[in-house]
Amino acid sequence: MQARSAKLPDAMAIEQLIQVHVGSGTLLPRSFSDICENIRDFVVVENEGEIVGCGALHLYGMHLAEIRSITVTMKSSGKGAGRVLVDALLREAKHQHVTCVCLFTRIPGFFARMGFRVVNKEALPDKALKDCQLCPRQNACDEIAMYMGALPKTTILSRRSSSQRRYVHIAPNPA
Ligand SMILES: CC(C)(COP(=O)(O)OP(=O)(O)OC[C@H]1O[C@@H](n2cnc3c(N)ncnc32)[C@H](O)[C@@H]1OP(=O)(O)O)[C@@H](O)C(=O)NCCC(=O)NCCS
Repeated sequence: MQARSAKLPDAMAIEQLIQVHVGSGTLLPRSFSDICENIRDFVVVENEGEIVGCGALHLYGMHLAEIRSITVTMKSSGKGAGRVLVDALLREAKHQHVTCVCLFTRIPGFFARMGFRVVNKEALPDKALKDCQLCPRQNACDEIAMYMGALPKTTILSRRSSSQRRYVHIAPNPA
């Protein structure tokens, strides 16, 4: 099983892979146009020419990236595809000089096996500002935040208008 960067012709397969887990709230919905716009975030894993899994790395800045939309087909689960995807996304993070990779999950056991550690959500304000404010489960979030690397000391997102956004120090780190 091998991971490769996704290309636009993969967008439909990616949409279908993600859609399977949207109803349960396991994955955030990603529209076809959103996937196309962000196709360079995605890697896919193939088995005998068929796409059997996908995952994305969302870049906030050098201080933080987030693993999102990671999934493997039922038929292929338990055969190492998930690990192949995580490894590929971590390689991409390293390639981009990212110092911390985070994710929000309900299956911390899987990501702990990959080397991630649990952290307070408050330690990752970029993620909260990007997604949590719009999430219907905002005040009843049952996801666990995890990270690998050096926890960020800065955040790039803020309530300021985007033209004013720069790195802002977050201190002390509430990890
Ligand atoms: C989570 C998921 C991507 C794992 O993919 P996979 O291909 O089955 O995982 P792998 O076969 O690569 O497993 C790697 C290791 O993780 C373990 N593992 C797999 N799923 C696990 C889980 N849910 N909880 C704990 N450990 C898990 C495996 O036993 C294996 O351990 P080992 O290396 O010690 O043998 C897949 O089950 C999936 O698509 N789930 C539905 C979508 C989802 O929950 N995505 C995560 C959202 S944050």
